Amino acid sequence: MFALADSDLERRILGAGDGPASFNAELSRHGGRVVSVDPMYQFSASAIRSRVQRVYPGLLAQVAQKPGNYQWTTFKNPSHLGSIRMSAMNAFLEDFDAGRDAGRYIDASLPSLPFDDDEFDLAVCSHLLFAYSEQVGVDQHIAALLELSRVATEVRVYPLLAEDGKVSSHLPVVMRTLADAGINAEMAKVPYQFQKGATEMLRLIK
Ligand SMILES: C[S@@+](CC[C@H](N)C(=O)[O-])C[C@H]1O[C@@H](n2cnc3c(N)ncnc32)[C@H](O)[C@@H]1O
Repeated sequence: MFALADSDLERRILGAGDGPASFNAELSRHGGRVVSVDPMYQFSASAIRSRVQRVYPGLLAQVAQKPGNYQWTTFKNPSHLGSIRMSAMNAFLEDFDAGRDAGRYIDASLPSLPFDDDEFDLAVCSHLLFAYSEQVGVDQHIAALLELSRVATEVRVYPLLAEDGKVSSHLPVVMRTLADAGINAEMAKVPYQFQKGATEMLRLIK
């Protein structure tokens, strides 16, 4: 999703809105330095498990209803997608208590993060910004991206599609505003695609 090179995995990484994903657990196990923030981390592991188990079948059913909207290469079919996501959640849950004690999972929300300027080399954010462009306005996107750029030297956001499967209409204004703030904003191809058309990330460099 973020075209990460091996050298990126050696950087100090912030994952914003990581939810029950396993990136933090897996990278930490391999000696990486990664912190995840999500308001979901205020809850216990068992509460997060129940919520994901309650919500996920509905999300999977939505995908299964419109299989033509997705590229079935990484995931072979909806049940394969479901089992991969559940094993990612389990890897996250096994790591959650120890990771929270170590300060790797922090209950915090954009657009206000409890970090110093440039505390991270790279911030990544997936399936949060742009994905809800109908409900979340352009000003909130700009505030979130300025905050990510404050705490990290580089920011990568994926995907750039809104609910309708088209590139978010917020993107041009967001990129212009960030450029005016002295942040270089460019779209870059990534090697991953599940949602059809989700082939690019936004890359911000101060
Ligand atoms: C669709 S999930 C994506 C999870 C993960 N990034 C992934 O791609 O699998 C969106 C996540 O954003 C979190 N979230 C919602 N509002 C947020 C905010 N203001 N700041 C940070 N995270 C937020 C939610 O709790 C949820 O875990």
